[in-house]
Amino acid sequence: MNDLRNDDNALETIRQVEATGAKVHFIQADISRVDSLPAMVKEAVDTFGSLDILVNNAGVEINAPFWEVTEKQYDIVMDVNLKGMFFLTQAFVKYVKESGRTGVVVNNSSVHEELPFPNFTAYCASKGGMQMVMRNLAVELAPLGIRINNVAPGAIKTPINAELLSKPELLATLKNNISLQRLGEPEDVAAVIAFLASDDAKYVTGSTYYVDGGLTFHYTEQ
Ligand code: BGC
Repeated sequence: MNDLRNDDNALETIRQVEATGAKVHFIQADISRVDSLPAMVKEAVDTFGSLDILVNNAGVEINAPFWEVTEKQYDIVMDVNLKGMFFLTQAFVKYVKESGRTGVVVNNSSVHEELPFPNFTAYCASKGGMQMVMRNLAVELAPLGIRINNVAPGAIKTPINAELLSKPELLATLKNNISLQRLGEPEDVAAVIAFLASDDAKYVTGSTYYVDGGLTFHYTEQ
């Protein structure tokens, strides 16, 4: 498990994983620093003996009108969401290739790899990029025995939505756009990631699985 900071959030996640009986090795590293990524894969392999699955889960977004977005804001979003995923996947693929194993990659993308999101243009660009990286790699990596898919969450109760969650009017409008009329729980997304990472999904590659309560194709005239 990797996080940018070794803080209370990271400790709480470690606690929850360990409570399931699983072993956790925590690596504090910045996903947007490409030079730190091969070491992340190596440390995981050194700890567990091998590595089978990579879940690219880190993501950030910046809410600003297009004409106000700074180069720094654009770079943060693209470097974490797209560049980090690109080069960590590359480090994972090199390991899988060199070790003669097979592998699975699951990317935590967003409904906004497909759906417009005004004031989040850099975020949408990064997620649209994740969609095409995933589709390309499904073709390029299949001969190496590597599957790759995206999960596209809608509105989920996670810290990325902290501001939204604190504003009842915004929340009410959003819920009206979700067919199931509720925000998603992290577990709703985790279940689909676990499926895609498992052998139950052995014939699935190059796909995006929406976990959005029906948000993407919700339409009503009332
Ligand atoms: C974004 C959230 C947004 C949700 C639904 C997610 O990808 O991170 O900010 O609420 O999509 O639009």
